[in-house]
Amino acid sequence: MHVLILGAAAGGGFPQWNCHCPNCKGLREGKIKAKGRTQSSIAVSSDGKNWVLINASPDLREQINSHPQLWPDAHVSRGTRISAIVLTDSQIDHTTGLLTLREGLPLPVYCTDVVAEDLTTSFPLFTVLKHWHGGLQQHSINTDYHKRFVPKGAEGLTFQPVVLESNAPPYSTYRDNIVPGNNIGLKITDDTTGKVLFYAPGCMQANDTVKQVMRESHCVLFDGTLWANEEMIDHGFSNKLGTDMGHMPVNGKGGAIALLNEFNVERKVLIHINNTNRVLDEDSSAYHSLCEQGIELAYDGMEIEV
Ligand code: MLT
Ligand code: MN
Ligand code: ZN
Repeated sequence: MHVLILGAAAGGGFPQWNCHCPNCKGLREGKIKAKGRTQSSIAVSSDGKNWVLINASPDLREQINSHPQLWPDAHVSRGTRISAIVLTDSQIDHTTGLLTLREGLPLPVYCTDVVAEDLTTSFPLFTVLKHWHGGLQQHSINTDYHKRFVPKGAEGLTFQPVVLESNAPPYSTYRDNIVPGNNIGLKITDDTTGKVLFYAPGCMQANDTVKQVMRESHCVLFDGTLWANEEMIDHGFSNKLGTDMGHMPVNGKGGAIALLNEFNVERKVLIHINNTNRVLDEDSSAYHSLCEQGIELAYDGMEIEV
C-alpha cells in the first residue's frame, strides 16, 4: 500500500497565520531548522492510480497541486484520482477541504453517523455541498471494529474503524460528552501482503483496541499534537490542556512516545503536529530524543510504502 502524507500539521498548520510562538517566528525568520507543514491529511492507494483521501484539510488545494499522483489522468479534460474520502472526525482541520472538492462532486464520503450528524447540523458542510451536483454521497462507517469496509477505488485494502478516546469539536453537540464514533482511527490492511497501517491523528488515551491494533501494525501514524499537556496554557494561547482537546502529550508518562515504545512496529511516525510542539525544531533535544527512540516525525510530501 502506498501512503502520501499530504499535511503533517495539526489545525492552524506551521507556521500558523497569526502565531509568533518561538517555532512559528523561528521558521518565518529562518532562525530554526524546521520544515513548514500544512494541515492534517493523508492519502492511501493500493494500485497507485486510485487514491482514498483520509481527511480533507483546509490546505487541500495546495496539497493536491503539489502531488502529481493526485492530478487528473493525462487523457481526461477534467477528473480526479481521488475515488473516495474517509473522515475520522468532524474537526475543521479534517473537513473544510471538502469545500475545495466541490467542482469534482459527486464523490463518496465515508464517516460515522455522528460525524455525518455534525456535518449536517452544527457544521453543515454536507448540506451546503448538496448544491454541487448532488454533493457527497455518504456511506456510514459502523463503529464496530469487526465491521470492515472498502472505500470506492480502494479494492485490495480493507479498512476497520478503531474507536478513539478523544473529544468532539467545540461546535459539536458531543463536545466533552463523546460517544463512540466522534473520533475513529483507521486500521488499513493490504489484502495481498497482509501489511497493516494504523492512522490515529487524535487520541487522548489508548484503549485496548488501540493497543491491539498497534501490536499488529507495520506502520503507525499517531497523534503528535503537543509535546506537553500544558503547552497551550504555558504559551498563554488557551486555558485548555491537550487532553481537554482530545490529544495525549507526546512526552512523559502516558504520552505517545511511551505508548509507541511498548510495541515493536517497523515504522512509528508522529503526525498532526501542532506548531507549538518543540519537536518541530530539528535542533531541539526533543527532536533528537525522538530520533534516538526510532520514532519519525511526519512531514508534507513524505511517502511511505507499507
Ligand atoms: C484538534 O485536533 O484539536 C484541531 O487541530 C483543532 C483545530 O483544527 O482547530
Ligand atoms: Mn486537528
Ligand atoms: Zn506557533
